Amino acid sequence: MGRLGLRCLAAWTCLGFCLAAARWAPEPDQPFRFPDGWRRAGRVAASEVLSLTLALRQQNVARLAELLREVSTPGSARYGRFLSLAEVQSLVRPSALTLDTVHKWLEAYGIRDCRGVSTLDFLQCLVPAGKAEQLLPGAQFHRYVNGERSVVRSPFPYTLHEELAGHVDFVGGLHRFPAERKVISRAWATEKSLPQRSELLTFHLGVTPAVIRKRYNLTDRDVGATPNNSQACAQFLEQYFHQADLAEFMNLFGGGFAHRSSVDQVMGHQGRGKAGVEASLDVEYLMSTGANISTWVFSNAGRHESQEPFLDWLLLLSNLSALPWVHSVSYGDDEDSLSRAYMERVNVEFMKAGARGISILFASGDSGAGCRKATGGEHVFRPSFPASSPYVTTVGGTSFRHPFLVSAEVTDYISGGGFSNVFPMPSYQVSAVRRFLSTASKLPPSSYYNHSGRAYPDLAALSDNYWVVINRIPVPWVSGTSASTPVLGGIVALINDRRLQQGLAPLGFLNPALYQLQAQGSSPALYDVTEGCQLSCLDATVQGQGFCAAPSWDPVTGWGTPNFPELLRALLVQ
Ligand SMILES: *[C@@H]1O[C@H](CO)[C@@H](O)[C@H](O)[C@H]1NC(C)=O
Ligand SMILES: *[C@@H]1O[C@H](CO)[C@@H](O)[C@H](O)[C@H]1NC(C)=O
Ligand SMILES: *[C@@H]1O[C@H](CO)[C@@H](O)[C@H](O)[C@H]1NC(C)=O
Ligand SMILES: *[C@@H]1O[C@H](CO)[C@@H](O)[C@H](O)[C@H]1NC(C)=O
Ligand SMILES: *[C@@H]1O[C@H](CO)[C@@H](O)[C@H](O)[C@H]1NC(C)=O
Repeated sequence: MGRLGLRCLAAWTCLGFCLAAARWAPEPDQPFRFPDGWRRAGRVAASEVLSLTLALRQQNVARLAELLREVSTPGSARYGRFLSLAEVQSLVRPSALTLDTVHKWLEAYGIRDCRGVSTLDFLQCLVPAGKAEQLLPGAQFHRYVNGERSVVRSPFPYTLHEELAGHVDFVGGLHRFPAERKVISRAWATEKSLPQRSELLTFHLGVTPAVIRKRYNLTDRDVGATPNNSQACAQFLEQYFHQADLAEFMNLFGGGFAHRSSVDQVMGHQGRGKAGVEASLDVEYLMSTGANISTWVFSNAGRHESQEPFLDWLLLLSNLSALPWVHSVSYGDDEDSLSRAYMERVNVEFMKAGARGISILFASGDSGAGCRKATGGEHVFRPSFPASSPYVTTVGGTSFRHPFLVSAEVTDYISGGGFSNVFPMPSYQVSAVRRFLSTASKLPPSSYYNHSGRAYPDLAALSDNYWVVINRIPVPWVSGTSASTPVLGGIVALINDRRLQQGLAPLGFLNPALYQLQAQGSSPALYDVTEGCQLSCLDATVQGQGFCAAPSWDPVTGWGTPNFPELLRALLVQ
């Protein structure tokens, strides 16, 4: 392979030979479909400069997975002994042959404007479209527009020269469209019973930080106190939070507990666009739950029309040696809209972060079990990624049983959850999921899901009826797992804060500890959510019903919602 590779490297200067040479498709299963709202606006000029992201093949991925398990599992000799970015680099950096092959290939095409990352496993290159089409035979770059937004993508699959097989995982900036994310807005008052007269003294008109703190047993003294603790949320939309909205939110809802009213670091670019409800929601609830903790916002809207904002965030994680310990991310795509090579590689990026002690939380999605037509025409559930990654902590959603009282929680029917069709079930959850499958009273037909896949979510929190301040105005009825995820992010950051105070390492990748904790029987650390079902396919067989919550773990609310003092006690392990 090495020798063959070199022979062709020389030939790359001769384009004719190379075009005739065998090609290889890194993402043969990557569908191209542009989402609703986008339309094609013509082919781009050959001179137009694109930004392509090359994911270079890493080394020692199996060893990384093993190290991640060891540093994240309480009781293991390596628990909490996280790797530095430099240690991750020396483990996963591409081989000399890979680096050499890729650099020679780029050089042969005169591509020099590239930026790498600390771990050497990504390259981001500026390439004129005409040259990119030669570099990636098959690709053809077109502009797509959606209102004021425009991106450049290729509706046709790309290939690489055969000699790059084994050296490149995928090339970003060709097929995947930027995330669409919308919180749900809904008014319950007309649908559910209003409070009884006797309850009027205690009722609330929607979720505020006071309601969150009351339900999850956070006292006013449960705030961060460690100077170098930190937390973050990541956003991939062309909308921004405004410091003034955050200040107004804290002014209205931040009474009683110490908190910060401004974000410390904005990574990426922020400030030109308009305020968005999703952006405001993340920051306002991360900072009122993880109160008084230094907060960063990763704002990657994609400056270049060909960038993939989510990939840009992953590159930043690999390029910064000091990062917040907790990241809350409300973003996802359908698993079936992504290639396996892409998802496998994104998983490795999560492993790299986890091995460094970083906790990554993803929203489980707002479509319940989801639904799509399989190739035979029959319906199946539709898992979402990265919610279905075995290397992140996935957060589902709940509602109060009584919408206007701080009461027990039930399933929020939108709560995303189910089983991955791509990733096998990780060992940390096998017994919990088996127990659910063997005891659940009403399971959907097994043809709708793959019971041997990674099952999610892992945890849940309230996702219904939040107050958010946007453009200086308090807005009610904001709902979705985009709300529950920053709340849990803040709680994990508070637990990290106590751990750091006691000289312990941060929690890192939470799932092994979480499943181990709950396996010991019903622990008071989490409120088990046992009522309600999520939505799914509207067909005669399942009639709109997905999985249902059940005692212990379930694929709608995971282990349940946090009881802060007990969860803190349980996770202050060495
Ligand atoms: C990574 O960081 C280095 C050093 O700060 C910088 O030169 C490089 O451009 C960064 N890479 C990317 C892809 O932004
Ligand atoms: C948490 O709060 C609930 C009421 O909201 C109470 O029943 C429970 O005892 C509290 N638990 C702890 C550990 O403080
Ligand atoms: C808030 O955090 C700072 C450190 O960042 C700490 O000095 C201060 O005591 C904290 N406030 C409270 C009320 O704990
Ligand atoms: C926190 O800051 C102290 C003092 O600057 C430093 O010794 C310690 O290593 C820092 N801890 C972390 C987790 O960054
Ligand atoms: C179910 O998932 C497992 C593990 O991810 C996989 O090996 C298997 O092929 C899947 N089965 C089907 C029918 O997709």
